[in-house]
This record gives sequence, structure tokens and C-alpha cells, in this order.
Amino acid sequence: MSTNNSQGTIDNLLHENRVFQPPKHGPGPWHLASMDEYRRLHRRSVENPEAFWAEEAERLAWFRRWDRVLEWNAPDAKWFGGGTLNACYNCVDRHVQAGHGEQTALVWEGEPVGPATSHEVSSSAYSREPQIRRLTYRALQQEVSRFANVLKGLGVGRGDVVTIYMPMVPELAVAMLACARIGAAHSVIFGGFAATAISERAIDAKSRVVVTSDGGNRRGEVLKLSRTVEEAVSLAASHGHSIADVVVLRHTAHEKPSERFRTGEVRHGARMHWWHDLAAGVSDACPCEAMDSEAMLFLLYTSGSTGKPKGIVHTTAGYLAFVQMTARLTFNLIPDCGQLFWCTADIGWITGHSYVLYGLLMNRVTTLMYEGAPNYPAQDRFWDIIERHRVTQFYTAPTAIRTFMKWGDELPAKHDLSSLRILGTVGEPINPEAWMWYHRHIGRDACPIVDTYWQTETGGHVCTPLPGAVPTKPGSCTVPMLGIDAVVVNEKGEVLPPDKGGLLAIRRPWPGMLRGVFGNRERFVSNYFGRLKDPATGTPYYFSADGARRDGDGYFWVMGRVDDVIKVSGHLLGTMEVESALVSHPAVAEAAVVGVPHEIKGNAIHAFVSLKPQWLKANARHADDSLKAELVGHVSKEVGALAKPDVIRFAEGLPKTRSGKIMRRLLRDVASGVEKITQDTTTLEDFSVVAKLREDDE
Ligand code: PRX
Repeated sequence: MSTNNSQGTIDNLLHENRVFQPPKHGPGPWHLASMDEYRRLHRRSVENPEAFWAEEAERLAWFRRWDRVLEWNAPDAKWFGGGTLNACYNCVDRHVQAGHGEQTALVWEGEPVGPATSHEVSSSAYSREPQIRRLTYRALQQEVSRFANVLKGLGVGRGDVVTIYMPMVPELAVAMLACARIGAAHSVIFGGFAATAISERAIDAKSRVVVTSDGGNRRGEVLKLSRTVEEAVSLAASHGHSIADVVVLRHTAHEKPSERFRTGEVRHGARMHWWHDLAAGVSDACPCEAMDSEAMLFLLYTSGSTGKPKGIVHTTAGYLAFVQMTARLTFNLIPDCGQLFWCTADIGWITGHSYVLYGLLMNRVTTLMYEGAPNYPAQDRFWDIIERHRVTQFYTAPTAIRTFMKWGDELPAKHDLSSLRILGTVGEPINPEAWMWYHRHIGRDACPIVDTYWQTETGGHVCTPLPGAVPTKPGSCTVPMLGIDAVVVNEKGEVLPPDKGGLLAIRRPWPGMLRGVFGNRERFVSNYFGRLKDPATGTPYYFSADGARRDGDGYFWVMGRVDDVIKVSGHLLGTMEVESALVSHPAVAEAAVVGVPHEIKGNAIHAFVSLKPQWLKANARHADDSLKAELVGHVSKEVGALAKPDVIRFAEGLPKTRSGKIMRRLLRDVASGVEKITQDTTTLEDFSVVAKLREDDE
């Protein structure tokens, strides 16, 4: 993909003039309280990065202090070399040892289940007892240690990859921290993904142990997660990869354990275990392994512009140093200040890793975890939770905010949201209307909004307002994080003047950056460091794959991806991923998928599909709605419900260049119903294909 005009810049028509000053008070005193202070610190952090990052690393607990802050042989960074530490120790044990064992680390609320309580009218949506669990730092230490011993008992040790596929329950956090404790890496897979996605990731990561749960609760339904895992185990086996052990948490208890399997029973070559059977009688003491700074902490798969998801590698010390800092500064975290932080993201995404779990616990602030939907049992569910728990910082996605807008102002108005001090958004650009609604109806015009721009690959926030210091503008993620040298450049790596659209790059390494794509060096180098470089020295820059512009005040306005990756409801999907799923259906000859702007979801998925006439004939099928529904179901089964196409259009042929590349830009125009195709079509092999597609539209 390339930028779309001859100067190598991207035009941007969005203009927004409103500016909101930070309020005087936040949840406790502000860590940074003025723009001057931000500017001074940011300048220092990029002019003398090693001194700056050394100070941040001092905040972590080390078993052995590092010798060198940074070794940078682009694109390879080694941070805090020579040091050893443990992520779980930094999140849990150090707080217990410092006398904070009785503080609540985690509050969990689930969907209401069970019979309605008698003391409330049964017609009320909230007539059932809420399911709430609280874990202190001490309890967390015990649970994590016990499960760490369980994993050890299965032979898991340093360097192994444990696959985790669970709902949003405390045991998910326990399982991740238990891996970190014993030096294993976790690979968490979002609970909405299908069996194929799990097996593909387990095979890529060479992971032999899977931790899951019998089910997850969603809108009163049970998602049968362990059954999906069994399917994945069998799929992996058919590809020659054997998963040795599957540990199943009993959570929804929709089936009796004895009816499902007995611990130790073998299914498709994997031994099945109930979590509670393995944990019974196991010691709750387990030492934290001393890990090298650069030991892999976790793998997290993300979509790329080619078919296969990429296993993004994050390592221990750099990730921890970066995430503790960004969490502390962006959300103004302060322990012992009555803060209760709620990030609504699933832990299956990077947002959950960094800002449900690691960033919060390292800062010794209580994190709230919610298992369930925003509209169950009613559409004011989030506001109900904020009111009851007195949430102080709330972090969600623009797609959710747009949905809340649609559901109506009266829902948040029914609730006391006065505990809120900071609001955050993440995952995609937020449109100014949604920003204003969030500010008014959730923040009551009193809370700063931190629009945090970052990626799975960056580990933590790279552009965001710091809430006590940086005035905000609706729709802008404002300024670079301390220590981040972010710029907007053209293809030659030259920094562009204000208001010129270009490519968002980061010129220098930072501790939270990815260290690789698991098992694929070439992809790591070419995707992230192969396109942009310093025009003077030739040193590669990190390329985000996002288009952006910077305004006259130095504020960033992210315009979205410039590669074949689309954001649907804040979830990243490679167009190729959906296309591969479509062509794996026997009826499909070719498929092309594009993103089309959508009011709520940000983008909708439009798929152009050409069918195999022989198959239709042989199976007495037609290019009709029933086949469309079947294809949608097929994608859902292959990738997960989040990848379902919104629109499928059958086409006799797809527009291609003479070299055979599908012309997505044209399809995007066709899908968006653009009146006249103004794009350059000189390389198009056969224009009649496009004319035909547009005729079909009428
Ligand atoms: O396009 C940008 C968009 O999300 C992409 C990263 O997606 P993912 O790795 O799934 O991580 C999402 C959570 C950090 C980016 O390349 N994006 C994320 N946050 C913003 C954003 N676009 C605009 N504004 C944001 N605040």
C-alpha cells in the first residue's frame, strides 16, 4: 500500500478547534500539572534517554540490577542488560512484603446468574444478587503460587509457552501471573476466537499446555470454551502438533465435571484436567524465578496484512518499565488514594495485558475486572457498575462510546457517576461527536479524557494527553508520551510540516517496544523497520502503519491504517485473514475484503466473493442469501464472530492489476457507494469488472 497522492502525504479534512484545559483536581494530586512541565520532561527524556529510562527502571524491584540501560543495533534493542527480575514479583510479592497484603488487588464482577432475589421486584433488570469477588494482594500471591506449582507439576518451566483461552475471570489473571512467576511465557487468546485460531496460534508458538474454562457468561448464555479448545486440540493434532495438557477451570458449571471428563482422561492425545483437581492439596508457596531482562514475558497474536497472525514478542524488564510508567502517568495512578480503575477491554487484547493487569498491579492500585456484556441485563450496565463500585478511572473504546450514545443519554443520567475523575479511550480514532458525548454525559464536563494511541507492538501508550498537564482537543491523541520520539514523516523519512498528513513513526527505541515476531525474523524486520529510515544516517525508524498529521501545536491526529488491516469495533483484522477463511469454503473461488466506514463499529467488513460455477451446479446451489448466510457462518467458525462480514457481494470477477494484484482501493470505492471512480485505473486489467460491480449495486 502507498500513501494516496504524489507528494507522499495523506490529505486530512478533519478540523477541530475546541480545546479543554485540565481540571485542577484529579484522583489525587497530578503527577504532572502543566504543559511546561510536560515539555521540559519530554525534551529531557528524548535528549538523554538513557538517564530517563534508568530512573524509570529504578521503580521496579530487581533481583540483580542491570549493567547497561540500552544496546541498540537497529532493529534489535536490549534494555537493562545484565539485570534479573520477575514480573509477578513486581506485581504482587513486593507489595505483600512491603506490608500491603490486605489491600484489594482485584475486584471482579460477573453477570448476574441464578434465581432472582426475593427482596427486589422481579421485573427489575438487576433483581439478582451481583456476583462479586475481591482478591487481596496476599490472596493473589497464594492463588498464583498454587497455580504456578500446578503448572510446574505439568512440566512447564522457563521459556515454555502456555496458551490461555479464558473468560474475564480472576483465574485468567492468576494463570498469567503464574506463568510469569515460573519464567514461562503466556499467549492469551481472546475468548471470541474460534478453534482454528487457537490451534494455529498454539502450533506457531509450539505451545503444549492450554489453560481454559468450562465456559464464559455472556448475555445470559454460556460460551462453551473448553469444547472449542478440544476442537482446537484435535485440529492441532491433525497438523502434527500435539497439545499435551488442557487445564479446565470450573466456572459456569453448566455441566457436572463428571459428565464432561475425569481429570487425567485423554482426548485427542491431550490429557484433560480440572483446575480444582490439580490445585487440591498443592502448596501455595512457590519462589519467583529470576529472569533476564530480555526473557520473553509473553506472546500476543495480532493481525497483519498477510494471512497469518503475528506473534508479537514482549520481554520482561522493558515492558514492565514502560507499562508501569505509562499506567502511572496517563491515569495518574497513586496507591492508597482510594482509586478503583476499570478498563473494559478483554485481557485477550494488549489493552487488557497492560492496563487491566500489569500496569495496575505494579502501581498497587485496585483493578476492576468485568465478565459480561455492556447491555446485560440492561443497557445501563456499565453505569450501574461505576456507581456501585465508585470507579475513579474508566477506560473504554470509541466503538463502545458510540453504542452508548445510540442507547440514549438517559441511561447514564440515571446513575451517580460522580466518583469518576479520568476517562480514557483506546483502540481507534474517536470522532469528536463521541468525544463530546463522553465528556458531557459520562464525565459531567469535569473529567479529562485521555485518548491513548498505541498498538500491540508498542506495549503501552505512545501518544496520549497526561491528564493534569495537557489540554485536550476532541479527536486528537495529543502529544507523545515521555521518552517517545514520535514524528509524522513522508516516505523518505523527512519530518513533515504542520498539518501535512503522512506516516506515523517513532525514531528511537523505547523499552516497551516489541522485540520480534515469534519465529519470523523477516516479518519483524520488514513490517516495522523496513520502510522508513533517518534520511541522514539511514538508521531505521519504527513504522506504525498508521497515517497521521500533526497540527501547529504539535498535536497528533491519527487517521488510521495505511496497510490492509482494518479496525472493526476496535479489533484489528487483516483483510487476508477474512479472505483466507472465505476461500476455504468449497463454493468460493476468490475473495476480496475491504473496510467501509461504519457509524458505530468504525468500519464494517464488505466481502466481494466470486463463486465456483461447477460447485454451484454440482450442489444445486445458487448465489443467493442462503449461501451468503452460510459464508458468514463459515467465517465465524474459522476465525471468530468478530470477523463476520457485514455485507457479502457476489461478483463474477474481481478488479486486478495486470500483475494480478486485487485493487482494493477500487473495491473500497464500490463498497462505499462512491458516485464516480476518480482513482487511477490505468493499471487495471479489465475495467468492465468494476462497471459490472457497480451495475449490480443499482
Ligand atoms: O490504527 C491504530 C489504532 O489501533 C491500532 C493498533 O491496534 P491493536 O494492536 O489492536 O492495539 C489496540 C490497543 C492499543 C493502531 O495502529 N489505534 C489504537 N488506539 C488509537 C488508534 N487510532 C487512533 N487513536 C487511538 N487512540
